[in-house]
Amino acid sequence: MTTRSSGNWARKSRFWHYVDERLGLDQLDYSVPEHGNTLPYMIGGITVFGFIVLILTGVWLTLFYDPSPERANASVLAIQNDVTLGWLVRGVHYWAAQAVIISVVLHMVRVFVTAAYKKPRELNWLFGVALLAITLNFYFSGTIIKWDQESYQGVQEIKNVSHYLGPLGLPVSPDLAPAVSLLDRMYALHIAILPVIIGIFLLAHLLYVHYFNISPLPWRKKASDVTEEPKEPFTKHLIGLTQYGIVLLVIVAVLAFVFPAPLGPAPITGFHDATKPPWPLLPLTAVDDLFGLWWIIPGTAIPFLFLLAVPFIDRGEERDPRKRKVIVITFMVGMAMLLVLLYLGILHTIAGSVVGG
Ligand code: HEM
Repeated sequence: MTTRSSGNWARKSRFWHYVDERLGLDQLDYSVPEHGNTLPYMIGGITVFGFIVLILTGVWLTLFYDPSPERANASVLAIQNDVTLGWLVRGVHYWAAQAVIISVVLHMVRVFVTAAYKKPRELNWLFGVALLAITLNFYFSGTIIKWDQESYQGVQEIKNVSHYLGPLGLPVSPDLAPAVSLLDRMYALHIAILPVIIGIFLLAHLLYVHYFNISPLPWRKKASDVTEEPKEPFTKHLIGLTQYGIVLLVIVAVLAFVFPAPLGPAPITGFHDATKPPWPLLPLTAVDDLFGLWWIIPGTAIPFLFLLAVPFIDRGEERDPRKRKVIVITFMVGMAMLLVLLYLGILHTIAGSVVGG
């Protein structure tokens, strides 16, 4: 018995040795400080897991989706009603997208609070800001391609805002290629352009984390504090992440089961302000209500410019949030404004009006 199991073990370890020699899996066994295995430091990894769920379900959805404006809504309805387990896969895709929006913001807040954007990680913060913008674009283009009234209204907003943007708005302007619908362009963005761009930025982001390792805890002052912190293998981190990832998958599957992904009827051309955008875009609705459509441009650009500037404004050695009052309060005021705008967006009432085509 013993001989047999030790034989199995030897075969297994020979197998791992074979795989390891070719894939360099031992590289994954590098040391991570103990705090890297706490939840706040794992949210980025949970976001990666959310993206994997989105890719798998998204690839499956493209098999049944038809991006032509005449048939797009009907094809989503068919996924929902006729394709085997279509409602579940679409529901998981929808709820995983909500989860990724929340987790990416929470991850950014963690990185901000712990000042992980400081030297030598400034560039990775900038990659992160790009990832945030890409994630929001994924979300926005995803809400367009289901092609119901809400999506149609979104397309009208793109058209209107693109006029204000001048040449910068050309990629989303109907004038660029009048024969190609904006729905088609949003689909290309969602399933081809953004996946490639996010792949590049995500790879750079993760290689960066691997190279510099996770940032020290903000209240660790001396270099000896950092070196004395117990270390754990990254593989333990991966196991923890997989466990959180499975929990996330179960939560989104239960949500998909209880609350199916929304889909309205095919859009009525010319009918305006008949729906509200999905919740992550509601702050922009509030900006439009309060100040006018043009203000959506600075309302989006200013927070992003602030985020891009963060590592260059706050350059001191101090990482403790209680001792970085000015930047932390500025950030908190910004987040509070976002929440107020979200609330005002929730209060927005639908007027419903008919405007030309
Ligand atoms: C698609 C979205 C994103 C994914 C999948 C992602 C993923 C990750 C992962 C896995 C880590 C290492 C573990 C962790 O700290 O949780 C990390 C670290 C980091 N991320 Fe992100 N991230 C994303 C967006 C962002 C954003 C929006 C920012 C900031 C604007 C950002 C800035 C950083 C920085 C500076 C680090 C290094 C943190 C440290 O060393 O403590 N990331 N990211």
